Amino acid sequence: QIPSLQETYKSDFVIGTALNASQIEEKEPNAARLVPQQFGAITPENIMKAEVIHPEWNRYNFDLADKLVAYGQKHHLPINAHTLIWHSQLPPFMRSMKDADSVRKFFTDHITTIASRYDGKVYSWDVVNEALEEDGSLRKSIFLEKLGEDYIIDAFRLAQKAAPNTKLYYNDYNIEQPQKRAGAIALIKKLKAAGVRIDGVGIQGHWRAYNVPLRDIEQSIQEFSALGVEVMFTELDLGVLPNPWDGNSADVNQKAAYNAGMNPYAAGLPDSMQAKLTKGYEDLFRLFVKYSDQISRVTFWGVNDGQSWLNDWPIQGRTNYPLLFDRQFKPKPAFYKVIEVK
Ligand code: XIL
Repeated sequence: QIPSLQETYKSDFVIGTALNASQIEEKEPNAARLVPQQFGAITPENIMKAEVIHPEWNRYNFDLADKLVAYGQKHHLPINAHTLIWHSQLPPFMRSMKDADSVRKFFTDHITTIASRYDGKVYSWDVVNEALEEDGSLRKSIFLEKLGEDYIIDAFRLAQKAAPNTKLYYNDYNIEQPQKRAGAIALIKKLKAAGVRIDGVGIQGHWRAYNVPLRDIEQSIQEFSALGVEVMFTELDLGVLPNPWDGNSADVNQKAAYNAGMNPYAAGLPDSMQAKLTKGYEDLFRLFVKYSDQISRVTFWGVNDGQSWLNDWPIQGRTNYPLLFDRQFKPKPAFYKVIEVK
């Protein structure tokens, strides 16, 4: 029996994972065994997104979301629901909607219906996801365009009304970066000034193993917690492959391999990169432990490398190794390091 992440860190913060349909239906024996043993909270990776739960005008499909709730109850795993308002993974009828009244109707109905149905059944909602640009301004989206810049306040207000017993969070990536962080801080202050409840902020945490922005992360923990909201890391994974837009901080060899359109680690992860992954997680968890009073949760974006979205993003069909369990569900050196750090 391997040590448990959740048990090891239970006095510090909750450790969660993202799950998909096959896992909550317990069709994967390895995941079925590992999830309750290793994790203390779950996030639906896709099944509560609008395109799944609200596929057509006036038609919701709660099948998978209800299964998720039942799975969580069975295993005593609180659910961090994801997500009500997001520009991506919208149902097809929404993507082309032209008229503002219809967008407003979708928006109000969507939030109210889903948030009220699961109030008392989920622990929290990412009410709004990824609403900021890199420079901290509001991100261009159908919601901003048709509803105006107060749509985020409106979303939280509707969620608060529909789900009085559910924690309400703002979630985004790169909000540890100074400019975008400033935008997130301004947004949280704006919500508070409007008298709207916001309980926490989720920093997604999709970083590169060889380039974890520790100083920015530390600064963010301090600045966000000073606002009196919960701070969480909600979608943690440390990719070993660069993104095309990674600058000179990216590993030079990796960048070259990427530009050549290659998949350099298809046959396995070399020891040197395995070591970088382990070091990345070590540094990060040392920081998390240092700020455990300010951090309420750390959720991994998937159980094991085989599940990770980073095999298909930003380009499809690569072989990435961003999580603590490998494709055979075996704990990696990074797993044992994370246990050791505590
Ligand atoms: C990703 C899922 O992991 C993929 O399976 C899906 O195809 C696309 O979305 N930020 C978020 C998450 O908030 O919802 C995204 O999840 C990853 C980036």
